[in-house]
Formats: sequence, C-alpha cells, structure tokens
Amino acid sequence: MFRLLTEKTDDAYEVEYLFDLAFAPGRTALSSYRLREGVEPVGALCLVARDEFDAIGGAIRYWPVLTASEPALLLGPVAVHPTRQGEGLGAVLVAESLDRAKSLGWSRVVLVGDEPYYKRFGFTRATAAGLTFPPPTNPDRLLAHALQPGAFDAIAGPVERWQAPKAAGQADTTAIEKKSDPVTRKAVP
Ligand SMILES: CC(C)(COP(=O)(O)OP(=O)(O)OC[C@H]1O[C@@H](n2cnc3c(N)ncnc32)[C@H](O)[C@@H]1OP(=O)(O)O)[C@@H](O)C(=O)NCCC(=O)NCCS
Repeated sequence: MFRLLTEKTDDAYEVEYLFDLAFAPGRTALSSYRLREGVEPVGALCLVARDEFDAIGGAIRYWPVLTASEPALLLGPVAVHPTRQGEGLGAVLVAESLDRAKSLGWSRVVLVGDEPYYKRFGFTRATAAGLTFPPPTNPDRLLAHALQPGAFDAIAGPVERWQAPKAAGQADTTAIEKKSDPVTRKAVP
C-alpha cells in the first residue's frame, strides 16, 4: 500500500537518488533539464509515493514551461523504484498529478518520453506536432496532452524555459500562484 504525498523539501535527497537509480547516468545533461534550470517546480504537482515502511517507491515532478509563448507543464522526471515497477504505481502518479493539474487550471502538458506508455494518459505525438524542443532531444519523443479540449489547437512554436507571460489566462495564473506551495526548494540542477 502506498501513500501519495506532496513532495517536501526533506524528500529531495531520496527523490534525486531514486531518479539516479531509475535513469541512465548523465540524465541531467538532457535538454529537458535546461528548461528546468533556474525555475521552481510546480510544488503542488510534485508527488512522492511512500510504502508502509515509509520508503519511496516512486516520484513525479513538474515544471512550468512555455509552449509557443503559452503556459504549459513539463511532466517529469517520473520514476518508480526498480523493485516496484509494473505494479501500477507509475500510472497512479501520472494520473493523480494530471487530475490535480487540471483542477488547478492547467490546460497543456508536454513531456519527453515513450508514446506507447504515455498514450494511456492521453499524451500523443500528434498533439505535439506543432512544437519543437531544444536539441538534442529526439523530436519523436516529444508528446503533448490537452487537459482542456483544443488547448493545443493554435499552439505552434518552441517549448521554452518558463517566464511569466505578458497575458496569461486566468486559470493558468492561479496555478502558478500555487506553485510555491509545499515544495520550497529551488529547482533541481
Ligand atoms: C516508466 C515508469 C515510470 C512506469 O512505472 P511503472 O509503475 O512500472 O508502470 P505501471 O505499472 O503503471 O505500468 C506498467 C506498464 O507500462 C509498460 N511500460 C513501462 N515503461 C514503458 C515504456 N517505456 N514504454 C512502453 N510501455 C512501458 C509496462 O510494460 C507495463 O505494461 P502492461 O500494463 O501492459 O503490463 C517506470 O518503469 C520507470 O521508472 N522507468 C524508469 C524511468 C523512466 O523511464 N521514466 C520515464 C521517463 S519518460
């Protein structure tokens, strides 16, 4: 049995260790990390799953980005401990955080990952067709999911590091105001 908790500052070391364990060495050299540098994660969406012994079984983080100058979420990293993979924990982390993102008013989510896994949550390559991602990311791995119908319809352009847009929609502004809640650390390197 796992409990889903919002990530706290004290969780950061364990979460980083989990990501180091789950991903290939050099993960922070990926271009998605350049989009996270100097930007605080969306704290309300960064979740950890702890088992009955309080050990972390999985974790997910989100950062705000701009897609063609419009606010969006960058999903990831997400990882499940190698000994707990295939039990549905990854699906719980992704589905629950997406539900929370929608209730917070976010309308767009992008990620770099495998479509065969993420399509079950609504992510497709086709939805991201108008977007470009900083190299050297393989464009075939850039996926997008509209939390509101049509949210990506007129979106064509680069995925860029977050900066407060000049005219953000009301819903997205509300979400960003909540981003410092409960994770108070700075963005991970
Ligand atoms: C990807 C990951 C988060 C999934 O978590 P999980 O708890 O093992 O996944 P779930 O139990 O929810 O789902 C398991 C299913 O997803 C499938 N799956 C897992 N990774 C997949 C992938 N990369 N591509 C396609 N399918 C995948 C499994 O084969 C399994 O399929 P089944 O339901 O038909 O048996 C986990 O495997 C992990 O941490 N991997 C290493 C880190 C990583 O790659 N993170 C994602 C970066 S994009």
